[in-house]
Amino acid sequence: MTAPAFDTPLHIHHGDCIDYLAGLPGGCIDLVVTDPPYGIAYKTGHRTEPHRFAREIENDRDLSVVEAVVPHLYRLLKNDSACFMFCAWKRQDEVAEILAGGGFTVKNRIVWDKGTTTAGDLKGAFGYQYEVLMFATKGAPAIRGKRWPDVWRHMRVSADKLHHQNEKPVPLLEQAVLSMSDPGDTVLDPFMGSGSTGVACLNCGRDFVGCEIDPGYFGVARDRLDAESAQGRMFAGCF
Ligand SMILES: C[S@@+](CC[C@H](N)C(=O)[O-])C[C@H]1O[C@@H](n2cnc3c(N)ncnc32)[C@H](O)[C@@H]1O
Repeated sequence: MTAPAFDTPLHIHHGDCIDYLAGLPGGCIDLVVTDPPYGIAYKTGHRTEPHRFAREIENDRDLSVVEAVVPHLYRLLKNDSACFMFCAWKRQDEVAEILAGGGFTVKNRIVWDKGTTTAGDLKGAFGYQYEVLMFATKGAPAIRGKRWPDVWRHMRVSADKLHHQNEKPVPLLEQAVLSMSDPGDTVLDPFMGSGSTGVACLNCGRDFVGCEIDPGYFGVARDRLDAESAQGRMFAGCF
């Protein structure tokens, strides 16, 4: 009998996900929910140095890390499973092409309606209120539970509660996790940042495998997941 790929329900790794994923056996993941660098060299203009978020994240200059990770995601996923991947509206066509080139079928471009607008070109463009969540499949997985429309509305994390400059709200991630996996399944987020997908998995009773290259954010994710696990919040919250 082959040993399971992960010996604990919560498995997080500090380092480059491309190297890490290359060492994992194919077919060990039930669902990918991930938020990679958008390839837009984002650095908030809203705040000034030395604010903790006034810097770019790693690998945000282009989409090369997305191109590198997609073949691994496809290989690691079981047959008839799904991948949710956030991306910038400006680069959504390129991300869809990368996913399709890696073997996935892009089924939806879900709109995450953030409830409020974010800063940007305050005088020359309308307020930015959504981000894109690609829903792509390997084979033909079925949606669990309700068939939601393709606009998902969840409020952004308020500035005073942010763990990460690009943090996604846990209820939004729970909606993805619950829609395309079953209790006890293993969910992968190779770009976990502050570990929000891991928190969603704890809340929904899924196992979690996460990776983060930035030592500061890895520490934030580890502490956050430690605290959440200690609270024993399994199955506590659903979107
Ligand atoms: C958009 S952020 C994810 C934020 C996360 N969804 C959250 O709620 O906190 C993307 C993360 O990917 C990390 N990253 C970039 N390149 C990476 C790589 N090759 N391997 C692992 N992590 C990487 C960045 O450091 C950044 O924290």
